[in-house]
Amino acid sequence: MKLRPLTDAGGLTGLYCGTHGPSLAFLMTLEKQASCCAWVLEDASRVKGAIWFTRVDGEAELVDIRVEASSRQQGLGARMLRESLAVLATAGVTTCHLEVRESNDIAQRLYRRLGFAESGCRHHYYGAGDHREHAILMTLKLEAMSAP
Ligand SMILES: CC(C)(COP(=O)(O)OP(=O)(O)OC[C@H]1O[C@@H](n2cnc3c(N)ncnc32)[C@H](O)[C@@H]1OP(=O)(O)O)[C@@H](O)C(=O)NCCC(=O)NCCS
Repeated sequence: MKLRPLTDAGGLTGLYCGTHGPSLAFLMTLEKQASCCAWVLEDASRVKGAIWFTRVDGEAELVDIRVEASSRQQGLGARMLRESLAVLATAGVTTCHLEVRESNDIAQRLYRRLGFAESGCRHHYYGAGDHREHAILMTLKLEAMSAP
C-alpha cells in the first residue's frame, strides 16, 4: 500500500459515485490549480482512497478525503491523512483547516483522532431548503498532530 501524488482521474470514479461532498469533476478542475496538493492511496495499482488539499504558504485546507467503502475501518483514512500532512509539514505548512458536515460523526472522529480541534461553525452551510445543516470548522497545528 502506497501513497502517491495524484496525477489524473484514473481509478477514482468508483470513489465518487453517489456520495456527499465535492464531485470528481470539481476536484479534477481544482487539481489543475497550483494551490492543489492531492494524493491517492494505492494497493497494487488499485485506488483505495484519495485526499485533496489546497495550500497557500503555511496554511492548507483539507478539501476532501475518501476511502473506498469496502476498505473502511482498516486505518487507511488515518494513514492517508497522517502521511499527507507530514509531506505538507515538510514543505512548510504549519496549519491545516477543514470543514465537515455536522452529521458526519465518522469523519469528525477521524479528525479529532489526529488532533484537529473545533474552531467554528458555519450555520446552515450545507444542503438546500429544509434540509440544511451546519458545517463544523476544525483546525490542526501540525506540530500538535497526534502520534499513531
Ligand atoms: C471518513 C473516512 C475517510 C474514514 O476512513 P477510514 O479508512 O474508514 O478511517 P480509519 O479506519 O482510518 O479510522 C480512523 C478513525 O476514524 C474514526 N472512524 C472510522 N470509521 C468509523 C466508524 N464507522 N464509526 C466510528 N468512528 C469511525 C475512528 O475514530 C477511527 O479511529 P479508531 O479506529 O482508532 O477509533 C471514510 O469513512 C470515508 O471515506 N467516508 C466517506 C467520505 C467522507 O465522509 N469524507 C469526509 C469528508 S469531510
